[in-house]
Amino acid sequence: MSQNKEWVYSEKIKDHFIHPRNILEDEASYKYDGKGIVGNIKCGDQMMMVIKVDKEKNIITDCKWKTYGCASAIASTSLLSEIVIGMSLDKAYHISPKDIAEELGGLPEHKIHCSVLGDKALRSAIDDYYMKNGMRDKIQKEKSRIVCQCMNVTDHDIENAVLEGARTFLELQEHTKLGTVCGQCKDEAEKLLKNYVEKHFNK
Ligand code: FES
Repeated sequence: MSQNKEWVYSEKIKDHFIHPRNILEDEASYKYDGKGIVGNIKCGDQMMMVIKVDKEKNIITDCKWKTYGCASAIASTSLLSEIVIGMSLDKAYHISPKDIAEELGGLPEHKIHCSVLGDKALRSAIDDYYMKNGMRDKIQKEKSRIVCQCMNVTDHDIENAVLEGARTFLELQEHTKLGTVCGQCKDEAEKLLKNYVEKHFNK
């Protein structure tokens, strides 16, 4: 076990990890309206989420999931699956990893990215529902933009690096290799780094 005394799992996280809610038990017989799969099983984490939707009200009436993720991913997604039932698609679409972490009573910064899996899978399931129901205009594609041309690093990569723990430019370089050739991207990357740290960690 870790000797790190700076962080202890909240009771809520322990509860959701030990008794995860809304696990998808029987995939073959579950009739869903939207399905999302994110992550890569080869990297050790993958998440599937399925939703049922009240098509008149555009409200999520059920949400099930399964994952090969860590304890934080399991607890985060269990909680997420509870809070989205009864929620409008629009509102559920905009739940952030930070919202989930706050509901759980806090996650250590280096674990916030674990809660990203659940919220990405949820958006993917909602997108799937929109696709199948003639609502493509509601899909908000993740628009990424290249910040470091030399190393092909996007703003989205920078945001992910922040969620994985990067806080300084050096740490950002360790995660992405950004700025290691001509260096022209440094100023913009530093601005984005600051913005994403503020956005996700209020710093
Ligand atoms: S643009 Fe980033 S190193 Fe050249």
